[in-house]
Amino acid sequence: MPRRDSTTKRRSTSTSSFGASGRSSHDSSAFYSRAFQPEIDASNVGEEHAAPEDVLDRIYAHASEDMHELPDGSVHLMVTSPPYNVGKEYDEDLTMEDYRSLLHRVLAETWRVTAPGGRVCVNVANLGRKPYIPLHAYVISDASEIGFQMRGEIIWDKGAGAGTSTAWGSWRSASNPTLRDTHEYILVFQKPHPKTGFGRKAPEGRENTIGRDDFLDSTKSVWHFSPQSAKRANHPAPFPVELPRRLIELYTFSGDVVLDPFVGTGATAIAATATGRRYVGYDTSAEYCATAEERIAESLKDT
Ligand SMILES: C[S@@+](CC[C@H](N)C(=O)[O-])C[C@H]1O[C@@H](n2cnc3c(N)ncnc32)[C@H](O)[C@@H]1O
Repeated sequence: MPRRDSTTKRRSTSTSSFGASGRSSHDSSAFYSRAFQPEIDASNVGEEHAAPEDVLDRIYAHASEDMHELPDGSVHLMVTSPPYNVGKEYDEDLTMEDYRSLLHRVLAETWRVTAPGGRVCVNVANLGRKPYIPLHAYVISDASEIGFQMRGEIIWDKGAGAGTSTAWGSWRSASNPTLRDTHEYILVFQKPHPKTGFGRKAPEGRENTIGRDDFLDSTKSVWHFSPQSAKRANHPAPFPVELPRRLIELYTFSGDVVLDPFVGTGATAIAATATGRRYVGYDTSAEYCATAEERIAESLKDT
């Protein structure tokens, strides 16, 4: 059989109604020009501005509804998990309206600081059982209303670490069985780019760092890894460093700026330094900010 080498031209595929295999060199233009694809409005995305050196690699102990340290358009990736308003020690007992308004204000401020083409990834779990409260749907609705374009939805399968709950409702009875969520969402959005729409070019001197296997794995929409122990991180709702690490490798170039507006114990900052990116974090709890600083310093000793 003749060997295919890098100079062999491949025939491009095109989208069929039920998807296709062999999608490299894929021509999807007909599919994406269909009427239900929204028009992308990039008229209000602003311009990219470099954040001053002295505001970077810092955790700020105040609310992220006002991130005045950051210039407009200075962040390339936001990764966060918002407070859940479920009675954790930092949660205020907000009404749903007030809670959504808090998230909306932080997302709107995130829009201001995000560079054109920058990505925004929100890790969120749904809440409640009677009824089930689809927080992820509210985040999608609010982020879209602000102007972010949705780029995907990752299901984080938390596996055995999350499967121990016995809150199944009525045991082996159709009376009132209840689903036990073993997953969370990572919702991926983008501030459109005025020239490319969705692409982002590497700025001078910055480069891709993601490896082949990581890329193949992280571009699938279901991710499998264990949750972070709350006790070990000294925080009631931490996410593991693996979560921001994957997003940072996938969506940023070396030297890019990564923001976490609800930074907690600093997992996003740790992942950013480990991958050669810059970080900025915000948290209203001075105690968590101190824990984050300690964990970041500790992680730097290991490198
Ligand atoms: C779900 S936790 C984030 C945990 C983090 N991903 C980690 O791995 O440690 C949410 C955090 O948001 C903080 N927080 C609550 N309201 C805030 C606000 N308005 N601005 C900034 N931080 C806030 C809380 O103190 C809490 O640490």
